[in-house]
Amino acid sequence: MPDKFKDRIAAYQERVDSCLDAALPQVSVGPERLHGAMRYAVFNGGKRVRPLLVYAAGECLGVEPHLLDGPAVAIELIHAFSLIHDDLPAMDDDDLRRGKPTVHIQYDEATAILAADALQPLAFSVLAGLGNASASARNQLVRLIADACGSLGMTGGQSADLAAEGKTLTVDELEHMYALKTGALIHAAIFSARILYKDLDDARTAALDNFGRKIGIAFQIKDDILDVEGETHVIGKPSGSDAERGKATYPALFGVDASRERCDELLSSALSDLASFGSAAAPLEWLARYIVERGQ
Ligand code: IPE
Ligand code: IPE
Ligand code: MG
Ligand code: MG
Ligand code: MG
Repeated sequence: MPDKFKDRIAAYQERVDSCLDAALPQVSVGPERLHGAMRYAVFNGGKRVRPLLVYAAGECLGVEPHLLDGPAVAIELIHAFSLIHDDLPAMDDDDLRRGKPTVHIQYDEATAILAADALQPLAFSVLAGLGNASASARNQLVRLIADACGSLGMTGGQSADLAAEGKTLTVDELEHMYALKTGALIHAAIFSARILYKDLDDARTAALDNFGRKIGIAFQIKDDILDVEGETHVIGKPSGSDAERGKATYPALFGVDASRERCDELLSSALSDLASFGSAAAPLEWLARYIVERGQ
């Protein structure tokens, strides 16, 4: 069963979309404009990579999908909030996301800020309300995802990203920033399944941990390569935005070839971390390759 993960992607995407739909207030419920903006930010064509990682890690460990819907939804809500803020004039000042106007362009800046403000606590409300997990698992999931989102995770990485504009960083400094701004949430997606599976030994827990950290960094390097090489109509974001802002990125600091080499190195090292899981890790392997080889 795990070797045909590709065939199950659309089903998992539909699954998480329907759980997101259930979690988000309807637009007919007031405040309508705020709820409209929240839904616009979530249902505008995201790849759903983080929920897919949650379900793929679940397949690897034998955790049932219905137990994983909560963390899959919570992490995608946090991701959506992070993208709204990332696109604001005060941050990357981008006007296109997923081929459509960014939330502050489609609505207005204040509504975009408030929509992000509301998506974040909704994620934790979903986790707190998980009926099918133990109180201990719920607490651990809240802590895992809160830490991944906070100042020692995504938000801290975004702060470092802004501080690094126009600067030269070492490889280690750059990868640390990537590990925080992008890697933390990707790692949390994979580790959500670990929390819901009790009996993983220390060696395999460490292997999963390493896998998550490596593909998180690879994800951001690939995103940066696409910003340089991708066409706006394919990537759905303004091509060349990083160079325009003077962002410290892997391609800007070390070149596209070195970026590709680092992605390949991280991928092969991440794949070797999965060796002890055997064929159950096929879905995670497939997603790791997708992250490095994707065209958008
Ligand atoms: C974009 O993430 C932001 C980064 C962390 C690089 P994705 O490439 O997963 O964006 P969507 O959700 O598919 O649009
Ligand atoms: C964003 O990195 C990471 C987040 C935490 C949102 P980027 O700024 O490169 O993401 P894109 O290219 O705008 O999607
Ligand atoms: Mg950014
Ligand atoms: Mg950006
Ligand atoms: Mg980018």
